[in-house]
Amino acid sequence: MSSPQDQIEALRSQLNDHNYRYYVLAQPEISDREYDELLRALTELEARHPEFASEDSPTQRVGGEALSEFNTVAHAVPMISLANSYDVTEIREFDQRLQKLLPGQAYSYVVEPKVDGVAISLRYENGRLVQALTRGDGRQGDDITANIRTITSIPLHLRGEAPEVLEVRGEAYMTRTGFLKLNQEREEAGLAPFANPRNAAAGSIKLLNSKEVAKRPLDAVWYGVGDLRGIHFDTHRQLLEGLQNFGLKTPPLTRDCANIDEVVIALDENLNARHKYAFEMDGAVVKVNQRDLYDELGSTAKSPRWAMAYKYEPEQVETKLLSITIQVGRTGVLTPVAELEPVSVSGTTVSRATLHNWDEIQRKDVRVGDTVVIEKAGEIIPVVVKVITDKRPQVTSPFPEPTECPVCAQPVSKRAGEVAWRCDNPTCPAKSQSWIKHFVSRKAMNIDHLGEELIKVLLEVELISDPADLYTLHLKKSKFLHIDRMAEKSVQNVLDAIENSKQNDLWRLIHGLGIPQVGERTAQMLEAHFASIDELAHASAEALEALPDIGPIVAENIVTYFQSPVQQHFVSRLKAAGVNFERKASATETVDSILSGKTVVLTGSLTQLTRDDAKELLRKLGANVTGSVSKKTDLLIAGEAAGSKLTKAQSLGIEIWSEQDLVNCVPKDSPPEEAGQLDLF
Ligand code: IVH
Repeated sequence: MSSPQDQIEALRSQLNDHNYRYYVLAQPEISDREYDELLRALTELEARHPEFASEDSPTQRVGGEALSEFNTVAHAVPMISLANSYDVTEIREFDQRLQKLLPGQAYSYVVEPKVDGVAISLRYENGRLVQALTRGDGRQGDDITANIRTITSIPLHLRGEAPEVLEVRGEAYMTRTGFLKLNQEREEAGLAPFANPRNAAAGSIKLLNSKEVAKRPLDAVWYGVGDLRGIHFDTHRQLLEGLQNFGLKTPPLTRDCANIDEVVIALDENLNARHKYAFEMDGAVVKVNQRDLYDELGSTAKSPRWAMAYKYEPEQVETKLLSITIQVGRTGVLTPVAELEPVSVSGTTVSRATLHNWDEIQRKDVRVGDTVVIEKAGEIIPVVVKVITDKRPQVTSPFPEPTECPVCAQPVSKRAGEVAWRCDNPTCPAKSQSWIKHFVSRKAMNIDHLGEELIKVLLEVELISDPADLYTLHLKKSKFLHIDRMAEKSVQNVLDAIENSKQNDLWRLIHGLGIPQVGERTAQMLEAHFASIDELAHASAEALEALPDIGPIVAENIVTYFQSPVQQHFVSRLKAAGVNFERKASATETVDSILSGKTVVLTGSLTQLTRDDAKELLRKLGANVTGSVSKKTDLLIAGEAAGSKLTKAQSLGIEIWSEQDLVNCVPKDSPPEEAGQLDLF
């Protein structure tokens, strides 16, 4: 078995490789779960061997000490912006200007999506990330290095032969799905949501506590350079390829255009592709490809003459606000929703839009009967942008703050520091419905056949009132069969799915409990640190806060949850029903085998095992599974029709096994429960 230092280095290099494949090449070779396991193995090894700590390790993405303020630092090369244009005639005029400035010289263009995020500059010295700055006023920006280091797609070390200095410029952004999820969490936690992904990214990047930044779904792309020493790019296309080879993510779908007519087509293609981008795209950027012409073209005080932004305005439409309804979420948060006269926006018909909270209603002075302007924030969720007060009917009144829950009529309250009103009744049926929906969802207890409508009916006929009641539903089968359209077979499917869920992994239950701000990933992380619900229920806020992804608020939420007598009762009913409360041995334990600590590559097609099962088996046997063959590979397992990896392994003299050799490696004398797990294959 290799030394701890070698193991640490091997894991670091594997994780860096997987990051590169995932973020830059968009070709992941392992699942998120497998990635998390490698990261966990590295975290544990580093904790046992602090002498090999490195601040550039992939484990060091969780943030550090909070700052009291950011340092202001001068940019080595100023960060200028772009001139904007809004229609193609302006783009053609841009080309005509270039023709005049470059008489008789050949040039072409690259068209890129314009990412709606926050401009950032990164400085790499001899390959190492040493500084990250915001644009600031263009001459000097804020030093946000600690925050930027938490963004996993950004390499802390460049790949390959690095130049003395490489300053890259690009955009940090929040993906649209990340933005939706963050806002949902914020609304559930009673916090004000962000208006759009750009604001969410800007707010996140400027947090003083990098541990909080680490939890925000941020990403970044790189499309330009500042200070360069020891490196030169002839064309913008070479620059993009060069950055990508260094391990930096570049914008997707960039287009080479020989002339301005091709640019015009590319602008159109870019607009049509806008729903495909993970980030919000607010236009395109047209750049001259030949970088050696940049000096000749120069810049104005604000922007270079060799590039031009082409901006798309988000589609805004007017419609009538018919009424305001109030939704009650899983955590009891009341969300006002605008019910609109149906209207088409950015390709779909919209009849509802969130109004977020009552502060927002007051700020925009939204009243029933108003004509409102709506658009889709982040191209997905419809929002009310403003009211056209000129079109307001004569008699309207401000929408009142709620005094009681619209569903159970119990009192509502507001917590200190929160904008949301919440229903205080722990048994409010509206809460139960959202909670059960969450409990059975694919990423929690994964109980099939229990759709929203059925949950609603089961609540209405009082067969259930919370998720724990699902586990006694089989005792009320005859009543269940009375529900409309529920045939024997459908009822049995539901009951079987519920019964099977009792054997779920622990993290699914932790997620299903519905602790505010404890999502799937946090639940998986908690499973790695606590062997059972009982252990988790007894954890102190300090112990929880010491864990990688957990800040004071989430720690407090967990403690409060398990201290609540209502939740304690609920949890004890789940336990009594026989729901699995323990971490399964398979989740972390490995069997001691001759493969422990070995770096193994799988190739070719397997006949006895699926590839995922083979990986899982190898993991259990203590091996690290990687994607490519290198000098660090200890063993190659070659299935049928193995190709280049087999040839490479042979040339490097690496040990080679067949699939059968792997299957034979399963210990025959495993204790019963381990044998049971292996039976699963
Ligand atoms: S090039 C010297 N390329 O949009 C010019 N900018 O509105 C450097 N942006 O300041 C900028 N996507 O923050 C460039 N593909 C892209 C971009 C992009 C987004 C931002 C950038 C710029 C702003 C101008």
